[in-house]
Amino acid sequence: MVLVRHHYQLSGSSILSTAIAIIGTGYVGLTTGACLAHLGHKVVCADIDPEKIAKLQSGVIPIIELGLTELVNEGMSAGRLSFVVGSVEAAKSCDIAFLCVPTPQGEDGSADLSYVQQAAEEIAAVLPFEAIVVNKSTVPVGSTKVVERALKRPDVKVVSNPEFLREGSAVQDFLKPDRVVVGSDDQAAAMKVASLYDGLSTRVIITDPASAETIKYAANAFLATKLSFVNAVAAICEGVGADINDVVVGMGSDKRIGENFLRPGPGWGGSCFPKDSRALIKIAEDANYSFDLLKGVITVNDQQFERVVQKVVQAVGGETTEKTIAVWGLTFKAGTDDLRDSPSIEIIKRLLALGSKVQAFDPTVTNSKPGVPEQLNLSLSPIEVTVGADVLLVLTEWDDFKWISPTTIATTMNGKQIVDARNLLNRKDWEQVGFTYQGIGR
Ligand code: UDX
Repeated sequence: MVLVRHHYQLSGSSILSTAIAIIGTGYVGLTTGACLAHLGHKVVCADIDPEKIAKLQSGVIPIIELGLTELVNEGMSAGRLSFVVGSVEAAKSCDIAFLCVPTPQGEDGSADLSYVQQAAEEIAAVLPFEAIVVNKSTVPVGSTKVVERALKRPDVKVVSNPEFLREGSAVQDFLKPDRVVVGSDDQAAAMKVASLYDGLSTRVIITDPASAETIKYAANAFLATKLSFVNAVAAICEGVGADINDVVVGMGSDKRIGENFLRPGPGWGGSCFPKDSRALIKIAEDANYSFDLLKGVITVNDQQFERVVQKVVQAVGGETTEKTIAVWGLTFKAGTDDLRDSPSIEIIKRLLALGSKVQAFDPTVTNSKPGVPEQLNLSLSPIEVTVGADVLLVLTEWDDFKWISPTTIATTMNGKQIVDARNLLNRKDWEQVGFTYQGIGR
C-alpha cells in the first residue's frame, strides 16, 4: 500500500521541532543532520572518531559538499546542531535516531551490516521509551528486522528512510528532493518520520519497509543501467561513424527517456553504484532470481574502462611501455574529492600495468592519499602535468580543464594525442593545433 502525500513549503514556525540523533557523520549523516537542523529540528550528530568530531565542532567540514559548511555553522550558532563522540551520547535524549553508518560491500557482494548492528546494539540501552530508529544508510531488503533484532526493544519502531543524495550535490538533493520515501509497518512511526520533512515541498511516499529498501536499490541500479546503455551505444557510434552527442539529444528528447543522466564517460564509479549494483544482484539471488540484466550492466561498465585503456594504447601506436601519459582528473566525478571506486584510478592502474609512466592532476587531490597508486606521479598544475607527455587523457569532467588553451598544451607535450573520456573538450580547438582527438562515441 502506498500513501503519497504532497508536502508544501511551510514556514519554520509551524515545524514541530523533534530531537534527533545522527549516528555516523559521513556525507549522508552530516548532510542529513545539518539539513534537519535547518528545517528546525534539534540535532545531535555522533561519530566514533574524536578527531572528526573536534573538527566538526570547530566548523571544519572534512568533505566537499556545496552549502554544507554554511548549514553546519547556521545550525551550531542557532543551537540546533551539535557534535558528540559516541552514539550513546546522542541517542540517550532523542525522539528519533538515524543510522547513517557505512554499509560496505561484503566478500560475496552482499552489504555488510556489521556497523549498523553494532550501532543499534550500542544505542538500544539508552534510547528513550518509544523512540524511533531510522535506517538512512543503504541497507538490503529486510534490514529493518535486522535492526529490530539488534535493538531488542519492542517499544522502539524501526523505519526505512533511504537517502537519494548524490555526492557533491547532497545538500541540494536533500532540500529539493524528487521524493521522500518512508517504509514502516507502523503507520504512526511512518507519519512521525515523514513529518520531519514538513518544511520541504515534495512528494512523500509511505510504504512498507521492503518496498522502501527495494526502491533505493532499484533506483540506483536503473541509473547505472541507463549509463551502461549510453556507453554501449557510444561504442556502436564509434563503429558506425555516428556522434553520440546527437544520438543522446535525439533519444533524450523522448520524455520517457529524458536527457538527464545520459552522458557517456569512462564508466560509472563512486561509493554507491558499484556497491549497490552488486548488492542488488545478491539480494535477487537470495530471492531466487538471477538478475542477468544488471550483471550485463556491470560487465559493460568494466568493458568501458578497457575501451578507454585501448584508446590510449592506440594513441601511442600500440606500444605503451615507457610512454608518458598525462591524466586530468582522479575523482569518480567532478564536484567531489572522493576516489572510492573511481574509474580514473582503475584505468590508471591498468595503464601502469602496461608499463606506462602516468602523471596526474586533480584539483582536489594535492597529495597522495588512500586510493592513489604509489607509482602515480601527482602534479599540482593541469599544465605542468602535461610536460613531456605522449598522450593527454581526460577522465573527470572538472570545469578547470575546459578553459585550458590547446596551444599552451601543444608546447608542453611531447606528443599530439588526446583521449577525452568525458567528451568535455572542444574537439575542433584541439585538432586545429594539430592534436589527434579521440572522444567517446564520436
Ligand atoms: C548516486 C545516486 O545518484 C544517488 O541517488 C545515490 O544516493 C548515491 O549514488 P553518486 O554516486 O554520488 O550518487 O554519483 P552520481 O552523480 O549518481 O554519478 C555516479 C557515476 O555515474 C559517476 O561515476 C559519474 O561520473 C557517472 N555519470 C553520471 C556518468 O558517467 N554520466 C552521467 O550522465 C551521470
